Amino acid sequence: MPNSTHPVRTIGGYMGLQLPGGKPYYPDLIQLNTARNSLEYILLTQGYTTIYLPYFTCEVLLEPIKRLQLQYHFYKIDEQMDPVIDFEVDDHSCMLYTNYFGVKTDTVRALSKTQKNLIIDNAQAFYAAPIIGIDTFYSCRKFFGVPDGAYLYARSSRRLELSKDSSVDRMSHLVKAADLNVEAGYADYVRNNDVLINNEIKVMSNLTQQLMAAVEYDDCAKKRREHFAFLHERFKDINEFKFHYSPEDTPMVYPLLIAKDHLKSQLIERKIFVATYWPNVFEWTSPDALEYHFAQHMISLPIDQRYNLDDMKYLVETVESLLVKT
Ligand SMILES: Cc1ncc(COP(=O)(O)O)c(C=O)c1O
Repeated sequence: MPNSTHPVRTIGGYMGLQLPGGKPYYPDLIQLNTARNSLEYILLTQGYTTIYLPYFTCEVLLEPIKRLQLQYHFYKIDEQMDPVIDFEVDDHSCMLYTNYFGVKTDTVRALSKTQKNLIIDNAQAFYAAPIIGIDTFYSCRKFFGVPDGAYLYARSSRRLELSKDSSVDRMSHLVKAADLNVEAGYADYVRNNDVLINNEIKVMSNLTQQLMAAVEYDDCAKKRREHFAFLHERFKDINEFKFHYSPEDTPMVYPLLIAKDHLKSQLIERKIFVATYWPNVFEWTSPDALEYHFAQHMISLPIDQRYNLDDMKYLVETVESLLVKT
């Protein structure tokens, strides 16, 4: 007899999307709908009342903090994007740190040894494995063509009962990019991003789970590392952001800091779409703040699996040609 756990089987009908079956990269982590909601999951299960978070991060992280009415305090980062810890974390508070661009894994490791109630935001460092005992979350859509999705490594064994999300209404930008081009899907991308605002915590949708299982993780990581190494070799001497380069890291983008006005907009005019991390930092800080400088002048060059070394050469040539012009 069919019941709620054994629905009626359907056979036949039209053919569905055929995605290559595979395994998720993090089969043992909790699968959720967004990274911001992974933070909410941690805050709920740990029962913190106060959070310290960097000025230099994405404003959507405030969604769960405000929803749960936590007290929050911003902290500064230094030139290496390491935290300036001038506060004390007690039993009821926690500290959030972002693995910026995926190049701050050393800092994450160091903090994990010294910092109480640490939470790591690996939205920009999908491939950086969680450290045992340190709450860590990931956002799928920063690295792969998926509408949403997040993974959470939670040190608490408390689990929340959640319903499953559905991504069907957030797919249009991805479908347009596949069928037409990225530009054709851009307005939909902005809209679908907005749809993620203030969503409740849910389990990752079936669609996102299937899309994430279809990713060729080793190949994507290899390309990212090669592209990153190529750009770093060309740019390391002029890059004003000095970070520890490890060939094992698999970053999100190449972070090129050059205090030259209009470089970002000139690249965008040439259809090299570099995102600003993060526009809210202009509101949260003043123009003399380091964080403001990072948001204004960091050129985040794409290095992902869509590209090859010829594309990277083109990026280098374009940036260099714009730097020669005054
Ligand atoms: C550093 C960082 N963390 C978290 C998030 C939130 O990710 P999600 O959209 O999966 O909630 C973002 C951007 O959206 C981000 O840039």
